[in-house]
Amino acid sequence: MAKLLGASTWEAELYEHLTSHEAAEAEMLAEYREVATASSSKAFRYLSDLIIEDEIRHHRIFRDLAAALKNDVEIDPEEPAIPNIGDWGHDAATVLRLTETLLGHERDDAKELRRLVSHLKGLKQESLWQLLVKLMEMDTAKHIEILKFIKRDARKSLE
Ligand SMILES: [Fe+2]
Ligand SMILES: [Fe+2]
Repeated sequence: MAKLLGASTWEAELYEHLTSHEAAEAEMLAEYREVATASSSKAFRYLSDLIIEDEIRHHRIFRDLAAALKNDVEIDPEEPAIPNIGDWGHDAATVLRLTETLLGHERDDAKELRRLVSHLKGLKQESLWQLLVKLMEMDTAKHIEILKFIKRDARKSLE
């Protein structure tokens, strides 16, 4: 495995952690791909495909984190894989305004999904539909989390 030049013990350990987790994510991904084709169930394949999409993203994020750490430690002038927040491109005010609009939409979306959930309770039998709507609710919570982070930080850089 690649080593970090000039890393402290803490950095070296974190790097090891990130890269080994990245490898584990890659294995998981391969396993899901295999499993998805091992059954003739279309429903099973549909759901494992949803997980595969997430696993691809997890793999990417771990790779980016490791690359960003390497970049940081080795004082590499190249653009880091995960950009620095800086002051939001010298325009925290615009970022804040855009974020507040998006946050409002996500909150409306969350309410809409809640309504849909109670609507679906009327279905005679449980189907994948309920699960999919629940997953979208979870995604919406995630989007709100991202936007709240931006809002907090952009506000701070305007102080
Ligand atoms: Fe994962
Ligand atoms: Fe969203």
